Amino acid sequence: MGRSNVGKSSLLNALAGRRIARISGTPGKTRMLNVYEMQLGRRERGEVPSGADRAPDARRHEPPPSPLSLYVLDLPGYGYARASKSDRQEFRGLIAQTVARERLAGVIWLLDVRRDPSEEDREMQDQFAARRTRVLAAVTKSDKVPRGQRVRRERELRESLALDADQAIVTSARTGEGIPELRLAIGALITKATE
Ligand code: GTP
Ligand code: MG
Repeated sequence: MGRSNVGKSSLLNALAGRRIARISGTPGKTRMLNVYEMQLGRRERGEVPSGADRAPDARRHEPPPSPLSLYVLDLPGYGYARASKSDRQEFRGLIAQTVARERLAGVIWLLDVRRDPSEEDREMQDQFAARRTRVLAAVTKSDKVPRGQRVRRERELRESLALDADQAIVTSARTGEGIPELRLAIGALITKATE
């Protein structure tokens, strides 16, 4: 979830390693709830790869690791000023319904590395708090700022929103920065949610 144009669909594609979600330079591209099934490997489930200390021979007879399937939802963004009033209302409803989903393991909340949290971002965070939603903050488009600034911006955003250090990950759909870390964090979140 995140404001319009923050890079939700792009990040989903980066996570999947394939172009499955539509992206666009103009805000307001995603207009529906899109559902994708994704697989995480054993590493992301926190399981130590087995057989690493054994001979390749022994490994060959092991069953292949069972991947963890999950559904990832791509939603319209919020805060697009030029969306019609009815569209905005519809998107708002879609977001609220998603946060209210009983089987929701958690939310990936996207924040642009170059922007300070908006009023709508804070309203979104209030909804998460009200529902006790598990939140992973993905700071997006890290390639847009020099390397040195990324860490500083991540800290500023975290402090401004009172997020824990392990709750925020700097990412770039363009360069792939932070994508493996985000996959790991999603795995950990799913594990927690299904415990
Ligand atoms: P809506 O569906 O309209 O809410 O937008 P969205 O949040 O899904 O954003 P989308 O993925 O469509 O990306 C919006 C724009 O940002 C596109 O022009 C992308 O190419 C660009 N973009 C997304 N991720 C990155 C990134 O990591 N780096 C850079 N430089 N551009 C990015
Ligand atoms: Mg989108």
